[in-house]
Amino acid sequence: MTIECSLEKNRVNELETIVKPALDLIIKYVREIDNNERNLGPRFEDPTEVYKILNLEDLGAKFSKAVQTEAANPSEEILEVFEKILDNSVTTWHPGFMDKLYVGTNPIGVLSDILLAILNTNSHVFTVSPALSAIERKVSQRYASLFGFDGKYAGGLTFNGGSWSNITSLHIARSLKYPETKLEGNGNHKFAIFTSAHSHYSVEKAGILLGMGSKSIFKIPVDDKGRLDVKLLEESIVKSIADGYTPLYINATAGTTVFGSFDPFEKISVIAKKYNLWLHIDGSWGGNSIFSKDKAYLLNGSHLADSITASPHKMLGVPTTCSFLLVPDERIFTQANSLNAPYLFHNARNDNENFDLGDGTMGCGRRSDSLKMYLAWLYYGQEGFRKRVDHSYAISNYFVNKIKEINGFKLINDFPITCLQVCFYYNPTNKPLTGAEITTKTRYIVKELHKNGEFLIDYAPNPNDSLTGQDNGEFFRIVFNSPNITSDFVDTLIKRIVELGNK
Ligand SMILES: Cc1ncc(COP(=O)(O)O)c(C=O)c1O
Repeated sequence: MTIECSLEKNRVNELETIVKPALDLIIKYVREIDNNERNLGPRFEDPTEVYKILNLEDLGAKFSKAVQTEAANPSEEILEVFEKILDNSVTTWHPGFMDKLYVGTNPIGVLSDILLAILNTNSHVFTVSPALSAIERKVSQRYASLFGFDGKYAGGLTFNGGSWSNITSLHIARSLKYPETKLEGNGNHKFAIFTSAHSHYSVEKAGILLGMGSKSIFKIPVDDKGRLDVKLLEESIVKSIADGYTPLYINATAGTTVFGSFDPFEKISVIAKKYNLWLHIDGSWGGNSIFSKDKAYLLNGSHLADSITASPHKMLGVPTTCSFLLVPDERIFTQANSLNAPYLFHNARNDNENFDLGDGTMGCGRRSDSLKMYLAWLYYGQEGFRKRVDHSYAISNYFVNKIKEINGFKLINDFPITCLQVCFYYNPTNKPLTGAEITTKTRYIVKELHKNGEFLIDYAPNPNDSLTGQDNGEFFRIVFNSPNITSDFVDTLIKRIVELGNK
């Protein structure tokens, strides 16, 4: 007797009845956004509201009744769920989504995710992902060359977001500079990591994860432009040595999270070399300014780094997640991370060429995120990415130049701004307000804009306040990062902020 399973017997028909109509719903969804018939989606003051709307309270009962076999019309029922999720999510394709350092993707992004879904492969070993493993290596090499890593072995790998690229860079730095740690852990070393006070928290998390502890992270103050102060960096390294630390790694940031500042890489590299430290550049956010003709200079000195994080899922509109760790010599991935796992990895040709990419990571199974960068780069071309990044810079500057002329706006970033986020206060009364009053006003405006479904923008405390112990109040942080934002749209945003601020 044949042993069979009925679950996927009808899969061609299911593709026709579920997936095909879903594509029509997706097209309708984006058309509605573009025709101004769909806003940013609901704002849930009480997070539990959405649990109720999606009927997530009694999943036990729901899961005991299969849609596939028990619903009168399974495709209709599953597509209703599909639409309900669309309707109760944030519409990141809307130009008013200016809240975070990423935005909605685009048609080629959707296509690449469909291709990944249909292949559903795993780029840990070449044998199961020949095309995607080859694409990852070649795209990484090309990407690395933009940052000046153009030697014979230059390359990179993708990781699950900028944080994981950063964390991996610290791990590789430790393994390469102190190979005995692979066997013995941190042993007698009290490692010291140096990063600016404005850098992303993933650097501190990396230190914790690798058993070095938060205390090993030395947060160097920034100058008045939000850049790591190189003189204080050197002083801190010297002091750490005197205190018994082993200085290991400097993280410099290309585009800090709040202000978008770029650290002075060339000067930092001199210090890194002098004290034999690994230099990593976290270009997760601002690294893709490399595609701009006018702004690529912000990455000057990137070729001096030992590793660079660059994340197409932030500035380039590639679907999340897509982050690369780029290096001058791709062989270090295997050197730092490989264990002997002959049951899995069979494709290392020699010490110089390992076709099994997972062997160079601390993970095993991995998604082929590079495919999404590959298709986007092919489709839009170098020129398309340049246009995208330059447009975002132009729009950010348009906003800044406008608000500078309007009573009550106070820019906090350095002027001219160095990246795509604009931080500012708005107080049209011109009366001095306390930090708490400013925070209340900022939050009120942000909330009302979102409630109207027009704009989702963010607010933040000044990162300097936690260092000085002051409360200057939370300010607006708006990120202009979409080719769909026009100057007219920016005018409307300013008008709304002024209207709400004067209420
Ligand atoms: C400068 C910087 N580095 C790293 C990250 C972390 O990236 P991800 O969210 O992809 O982990 C962020 C996130 O915003 C960031 O701003």
